Amino acid sequence: MHWPETMVTYDEADEVLFSADGFGSFGALGGHIFADEMDFDRDWLDDARRYYCNIVGKYGTSVQALLKKASGLKISVICPLHGPVWRKNLDYFLEKYQKWSTYEAEDKAVVIMYASMYGNTASAADALAGCLAERGVEKIAVYDVSNTHVSDLIGEIFRASHLVFAAPTYNGGIYPVMENLLSDMKALAVQKKTVALMENGTWAATTAKQMREKLGEMKDITILDAQVTIKSAMAAGQGDELAALADAIAAELCER
Ligand SMILES: Cc1cc2nc3c(=O)[nH]c(=O)nc-3n(C[C@H](O)[C@H](O)[C@H](O)COP(=O)(O)O)c2cc1C
Repeated sequence: MHWPETMVTYDEADEVLFSADGFGSFGALGGHIFADEMDFDRDWLDDARRYYCNIVGKYGTSVQALLKKASGLKISVICPLHGPVWRKNLDYFLEKYQKWSTYEAEDKAVVIMYASMYGNTASAADALAGCLAERGVEKIAVYDVSNTHVSDLIGEIFRASHLVFAAPTYNGGIYPVMENLLSDMKALAVQKKTVALMENGTWAATTAKQMREKLGEMKDITILDAQVTIKSAMAAGQGDELAALADAIAAELCER
C-alpha cells in the first residue's frame, strides 16, 4: 500500500507467504537468514517495529485486511522483502503485527521526549522520569528529540502507552524538532495514546497549547489536564507541579 506496485503472494505448494514489506525489518542480515537463528527479541525487534511504524504504520486498516485474509491460509514460512525469514514461532510476529496495525501499545510504558536549547527543559524531563520511578512506574524511557532520529522516536511512540512531550516555545511556535515529530506522528496515524505536556517559555509560553492543538488533530489521543510550565528554568517550589504531573501519569497508567 505504501508503494503502489508491492503485492503479497501466497505459494500454495510450499505454504510460503511472500509478504512484501509486511513482516520486514531494517538492518542487514549477518549471515543467518532465519529469525529463529537469531535473538530476534533482543537484536531485531526494535528495528522491525521501527520499520513497520515508519514505512507501513499509516496503513493499519490495510494491514488488518491482509492479516484477516492471511488467517485463512496455512502459512509455514513468511518471506518478507527485507529482514529475516520466518519459519518458526510465527504467532510471535503475527501478534506484534496485530498490535501495531490496530495502534495498541505493546508496553505499559512512559516515553518522555524533550527538546531543549540550554538544558533546562531536559533537566525537568529527567526530574519527571525520577518522579515516575519513585511512583513505581517500571518502564520509562527518556529521549532528546534533537539528537534521536525521528524514526526511532516513532518506533517508541508506537511501543508505549503513555507519552510526554516537553519543549520550549520558539519564536511564538513549537520548537522545530518537536513540531516535526508531532507532524510525523499525525502523518503516520498514531492513535490510542495518553499524553502529558511540559513547556518552557520565558515571556509567553504557548508551546503546550499548540502541541495540544496538534495532538487534538490525531485520533483517540487523551491529553492529561495536568501540565507543567517552566519559565526558563524550574523555579523553587515547582517540584509540586512536577509531582502532580507524575501522579496523574502514574494513576492513568494503573487504570489501563
Ligand atoms: C531563538 C529563541 C526563541 C525563543 N522564543 C520564545 C518565545 O517565543 N516565547 C517565550 O516565552 N520564550 C522564548 N524563548 C525563550 C526560551 O523559552 C528559553 O530560552 C528556555 O530556557 C528554553 O528552554 P531550554 O532552557 O530548555 O533550552 C526563546 C529562546 C530562543 C533562544
